Amino acid sequence: MDYKKYIAQKIEIDGFSCEEIETFIEIPPEKSVGDYALPCFRFSRALKKAPNIIAQELKEKITPSGVIREVQAVGGYLNFFLDRTAVSLDVVKEILDSGEKYGSQKVGEGKTVCIDYSSINIAKPFHIGHLSTTVIGGALYRIFNFLGYKAVGINHLGDYGTQFGKLIYAYKNWGSREEVEKGGIKELTRLYVDYHAKSEENPAMDDEARRYFKLIEEGDSECVELFNWFKEMTIKEVNKIYDLLDIHFDSYAGESFYNDKMQVVVDELNEKNLLVESDGAKIVDLEQFNMPPCIILRSDGASLYATRDIAAAIYRKNTYDFYKCLYVVAYQQDLHFKQFFKTLELMGKTWAKDMVHVSYGMVSLEDGAMSTRHGKVVLLEDVIRVCMEKALKVIEEKNPSLENKEEVAKMIGTGAVIFGALQNNKIKDIVFSYDKVLSFEGETGPYVQYTVARCNSVMAKSDVDYSEFNVTEVCDSEYNLAVALANFPSVVLSSAEKYEPSFVTRYAIDVAKAFNRFYLDCKILNETGDRKKFRLALCDATRTTLKNALSLLGIKTPERM
Ligand code: ARG
Repeated sequence: MDYKKYIAQKIEIDGFSCEEIETFIEIPPEKSVGDYALPCFRFSRALKKAPNIIAQELKEKITPSGVIREVQAVGGYLNFFLDRTAVSLDVVKEILDSGEKYGSQKVGEGKTVCIDYSSINIAKPFHIGHLSTTVIGGALYRIFNFLGYKAVGINHLGDYGTQFGKLIYAYKNWGSREEVEKGGIKELTRLYVDYHAKSEENPAMDDEARRYFKLIEEGDSECVELFNWFKEMTIKEVNKIYDLLDIHFDSYAGESFYNDKMQVVVDELNEKNLLVESDGAKIVDLEQFNMPPCIILRSDGASLYATRDIAAAIYRKNTYDFYKCLYVVAYQQDLHFKQFFKTLELMGKTWAKDMVHVSYGMVSLEDGAMSTRHGKVVLLEDVIRVCMEKALKVIEEKNPSLENKEEVAKMIGTGAVIFGALQNNKIKDIVFSYDKVLSFEGETGPYVQYTVARCNSVMAKSDVDYSEFNVTEVCDSEYNLAVALANFPSVVLSSAEKYEPSFVTRYAIDVAKAFNRFYLDCKILNETGDRKKFRLALCDATRTTLKNALSLLGIKTPERM
């Protein structure tokens, strides 16, 4: 709970609204100073008084009540101390009342946020390099929805380019329907790799491949059918992983979707005198912004990645009228996004300021041994499978009598992968380690899931009705846990503001730690009366908060583990 609003309502200052005052209230770094503070310096000029006088006068007008225990005027600050017991009771009640909705907000109502994420390339393996974009994008999708925005998930498929002509050439010459059906993406990759080996000796193949690509573009029925088949197969295969990671898309409009939407972009650039000819190509000169040019048309007239992105951005604005349009793409493409955002700005699109490149770092595997298994890439499917297998082994050791072990291992394995990928600031490179992400004791997904299971088990052992509870004082461990729980709504808000799901992972760790401290320090089941009820209610509130946090990340929580 954020008590800033509550406090602001108790303060009256001529010429300042309650909302304004709320934004001025700070949380002092030192708790001994107070839980909240209002610096009075900024009112000095308007009130024609010294800040310390203002603070003193305000203090005299406030009678401590409810969650406010004491008010002090120190220097130019008005400091508030909260009543620890009132706060703890208040927080737990609110969480139990809100349940699954705890942490959700309405700030985004009426606003749409487009999120371009995962954006796979057709007929290419789905590898560990796609992990971050998929889980960061998925988390942002859920977080924005939780805040009342309408999130639109877009998988901007990489489904355009001469490589598809090559694939058709390879398929027609040495591929077979059965093999492709059986092997899926793996077989398509093999055909493509073989094509390159063969075309080195026979460069004439490239002309044929280009011809096939042209046929796709012209709508030749056989080529289009094959291409669509490759596309469907890729999506179907990747969907299995999306299901595991709880990933959803509202649109699969990829690069080829914009084939017929680029001419108007070129025309508009021309009309606005932004296109310059350079070695036969058409470019937008960005030299005065210290960037290389944004290439719009190659000398052979073909469009580029950036051309498609400009068309896609305009299409998204027209279709969704977005408040923000996010692109969750690795930092290698920083320049690409700067260039095409700038181009949109030069075209006079005032909404170009609402485009955000959510950039992130690289993922590599600690255990390099696996990277050779399927050529050079580490398949995401394999990483998740290994985590599930390892989780199953741990369960077999620690809790062999557990029901539905396989199901639980699935939740722990995928949870470990997701949590591991979202743990640090997104711009940092990650070295992925199986042992680290799966450790039940470290700062991991399984550790948080285990904490939820622990809450479940405490509550399952008691049949006391704790819907009504009241205590007259709280101990440090109870209070610290309650305060940690209270922070959830503001953590969700700032994770959306900074596009940082890692705020939520780190928050979940903080809550799990505070709970485990409480669990160690305080008797629960052996307590009696109101104290027992309050502690059971705290367990319940912890479980709810952690479940809500994990589900924002796409992580499920087993009842037991
Ligand atoms: N398919 C691209 C890649 O793998 C990512 C596309 C990102 N989205 C976009 N609108 N450019 O690099």
